[in-house]
Amino acid sequence: MAPSATALALCVALFLTRRTDGEMLEGPTDVRFVAEIAHHLLRWEPGHNPRSDVRYEVEHRVYGTNFSWMATPNCRNISELSCDLTYYTLDPALRYYARVRAVARNHTSPWQRTNSFSPREASLRLSGQSLSLTGNTIHVQLQLLLRAGNLTVKYDDVQKHTRRYWVYVRRAQDNRTYKVLKTTPEFNITNLFWDTEYCISVEPDVASRRIHATRTDEHCVAIGGRDRSAELVLSIVSSSFITLLLLGLLGALLVCTYIKKPVRPPSVLKSFIKQSSLWMEQESLSSGSPDADPIQQLFLCQKEPQQDSTQRRPRSPWAQGHPQDQGWH
Ligand SMILES: *[C@@H]1O[C@H](CO)[C@@H](O)[C@H](O)[C@H]1NC(C)=O
Ligand SMILES: *[C@@H]1O[C@H](CO)[C@@H](O)[C@H](O)[C@H]1NC(C)=O
Ligand SMILES: *[C@@H]1O[C@H](CO)[C@@H](O)[C@H](O)[C@H]1NC(C)=O
Ligand SMILES: *[C@@H]1O[C@H](CO)[C@@H](O)[C@H](O)[C@H]1NC(C)=O
Ligand SMILES: *[C@@H]1O[C@H](CO)[C@@H](O)[C@H](O)[C@H]1NC(C)=O
Ligand SMILES: *[C@@H]1O[C@H](CO)[C@@H](O)[C@H](O)[C@H]1NC(C)=O
Repeated sequence: MAPSATALALCVALFLTRRTDGEMLEGPTDVRFVAEIAHHLLRWEPGHNPRSDVRYEVEHRVYGTNFSWMATPNCRNISELSCDLTYYTLDPALRYYARVRAVARNHTSPWQRTNSFSPREASLRLSGQSLSLTGNTIHVQLQLLLRAGNLTVKYDDVQKHTRRYWVYVRRAQDNRTYKVLKTTPEFNITNLFWDTEYCISVEPDVASRRIHATRTDEHCVAIGGRDRSAELVLSIVSSSFITLLLLGLLGALLVCTYIKKPVRPPSVLKSFIKQSSLWMEQESLSSGSPDADPIQQLFLCQKEPQQDSTQRRPRSPWAQGHPQDQGWH
């Protein structure tokens, strides 16, 4: 009986010492960064038997440098289980540590430290997108500036390489959604149906590694009916243009025939033509061909340039004028 009694006494004693050790205060557990771009939150869980008056304090430091731990002004003596460290962990080129301990009156727990954290590991997000409509094309502009308190963070400063964007295009009437991959922050979605509402959301991505990302909120835009009036104007313009063209051609033809008729060769040439035609008539008569007349006329027309070379002077006023005009206009 004696050994068991002493064992029990030992147990009680141990239990009591543990209770008094509890005054030492248990530290927080699971201290980690839960970060999205431009919002770096430090989170932790309370110890197993948290006291009601427990408070926490947070410190941070840059990884791999000589700097010592620095207190975080906004997370001193706080009762919440998180602390916003965005302001102290902004540089994407650096890595950071943070640590937390519990404080109750003048008792403090040991520090609990995070793994190292880089702003580039923060899950991806965009502030949103703006949509504008031209006909049945949606023009999308991604908003890459993220606000963090009183500062602004550029998405492309944090993710410098292989940025790309999954664009979700949902047709509102039946929820049919398709995904397109874009690599620029400004793009068009073309050839959409008329009289249809589309909702667009965008999920950023980096091609080089797997990283969690959040889709933007959907923005919707309704494409109206095809603009018939614009088409009508276009068809009117084009048909009237064709009509004008045809009229112009007709006019040109008329003018040509009109000009051809009254223009007569100069009198000297005329007499020459007369002579030659007489001469040819004689020729044809002598040859005795029955249908010589049309052929002779044709022949006469073709012969003209040759006569031109022999009889240059009389023709020159209007024969030379035309090539010059063509050359200078
Ligand atoms: C680290 O800091 C100490 C003093 O704070 C300084 O003497 C030492 O040169 C520093 N080392 C480096 C590598 O910066
Ligand atoms: C911590 O906060 C509590 C209440 O919020 C206050 O009573 C206590 O004095 C504070 N301690 C320090 C060290 O600021
Ligand atoms: C803690 O506070 C108690 C009173 O609340 C005091 O008696 C004790 O000396 C303090 N201990 C330290 C280490 O400050
Ligand atoms: C921005 O906010 C931080 C604390 O979050 C403060 O220390 C800093 O002075 C502020 N800067 C400006 C320009 O307001
Ligand atoms: C589309 O999805 C929404 C919610 O996701 C749902 O409320 C709605 O009924 C769906 N519409 C059709 C036509 O499936
Ligand atoms: C999108 O379309 C508009 C005309 O609708 C054009 O001016 C613009 O250059 C296009 N943008 C891109 C990125 O293709």
